[in-house]
Amino acid sequence: MYSNYKKYFIVTYGCQMNLHESEKIAGILSEMGLKAADSEIDADVIVFNTCCIRENAEERAEGNIGALKKLKKQKKNLIIAVGGCMTQQNGYANRLLAKFPFIDIVFGTYNLENFKALLTERLSTKKPVCDVEENATIYENTPKTRSSFPNAWVNIMYGCDNFCTYCIVPYVRGRERSRKKEDIISECKTLISDGYKEITLLGQNVNSYGKGVESSFPELLKSVAELEGDFRLRFMTNHPKDLSKELISVIKSHPKICRSIHLPVQSGSDRILKLMNRKYTREEYLNKIALLKTEIPDIAITTDVMVGFPTETESDFNDTFDLMKKCGFAGAFTFIYSKRKGTVAANMEGQVLPEVSKQRIMKLINYQNAFNKKTSKQYEGKTITVLCEGYDEKKDKYLGRDEFGRMAYFNADKSSIGKFVKVLISKTGGISLFGEIVR
Ligand code: 5AD
Ligand code: SF4
Repeated sequence: MYSNYKKYFIVTYGCQMNLHESEKIAGILSEMGLKAADSEIDADVIVFNTCCIRENAEERAEGNIGALKKLKKQKKNLIIAVGGCMTQQNGYANRLLAKFPFIDIVFGTYNLENFKALLTERLSTKKPVCDVEENATIYENTPKTRSSFPNAWVNIMYGCDNFCTYCIVPYVRGRERSRKKEDIISECKTLISDGYKEITLLGQNVNSYGKGVESSFPELLKSVAELEGDFRLRFMTNHPKDLSKELISVIKSHPKICRSIHLPVQSGSDRILKLMNRKYTREEYLNKIALLKTEIPDIAITTDVMVGFPTETESDFNDTFDLMKKCGFAGAFTFIYSKRKGTVAANMEGQVLPEVSKQRIMKLINYQNAFNKKTSKQYEGKTITVLCEGYDEKKDKYLGRDEFGRMAYFNADKSSIGKFVKVLISKTGGISLFGEIVR
């Protein structure tokens, strides 16, 4: 049945979770005998793995799906599948099929493991198929075609129970489900013996890992960090309310755990944090940052910050700006609030004007860029250990990150990929570092 189907192409939007889920879709298609295509035009099966965290992610995906109408006309056997968070929104799958009737398969975040069955059904019935049914099963045996060697992602939990009022994730990914510790450890052991050098434990809120299983996140992290082998360990993302002293002490005492942490703050105003249902105050957040820095002085803390949440005033924004200055983040992802249908904030009064939000975000971006430039300078003349991850065609250099997440560019050859190398930094530009390998 699949003999006409030789190549697949996957287009991924959104976060690491989605990138990893695309590796699972690729795994299922590879097991069916298909190979990765270099472009959409060469593919017999095109899969869009979508994101709906902000409106612009949806617009981009819909634009790219719409653009395939012509290709589908030219290539009658082409299969177009759309999955991921966007399709899981209430009523969205039907709207999508009505808008783009040439889509063959729609599947949600709960159903990617069914992809083979959905494809089979589509080929035998010759009718579009749709499966966005909620389902709390944790699938352990999904094949994976990993594409990020020497880095590997490992899911430790799925879903989110936090219901931050702006966020669509709890609605499209369901309630928190933790994988069993022994399954996670066994996956990590295999990855290490396969030569992977960096493992990132993934979840919407990794530090609340443990619901329904007999373990906690600090315990799990410690057990992975104590596995034998030459690798380093990261985890993301964290909720400040769940950052415990125990977790900080595990990071501090295990050299394989990178001394970096992503701790989204969202806002520096107590009033806005409350409206966001973040469950911590500005002071509590600042105290956690202070504790992290006391215990692990060189830790790199990164964050997510949002501007333009409903009713955000200039004074609320100034609290956020002030908090950013106080924390000295090693990196900050900044976002303009985007109204998501079905969330609590979507019905709040006091939506902020786009031009006001733009001005606010620019202030944060400019500050963070200048701050990065300043901290980059401190790298000049220093030798750092980076994991060589690949080659950057544009820069004609190899690249890799240090444990603090800083990207360095240097001359090397293919054999360096997957190795820890020492790089003497001679030049910096913005957040990037440039140097040469030293032995
Ligand atoms: N609008 C803008 N940004 C959002 N995020 C989540 N939901 C929204 C939204 N509705 C941001 C948060 C989160 C990051 C992954 O995306 O900052 O930490
Ligand atoms: Fe969304 Fe909040 Fe859950 Fe993060 S913790 S996924 S922002 S609801």
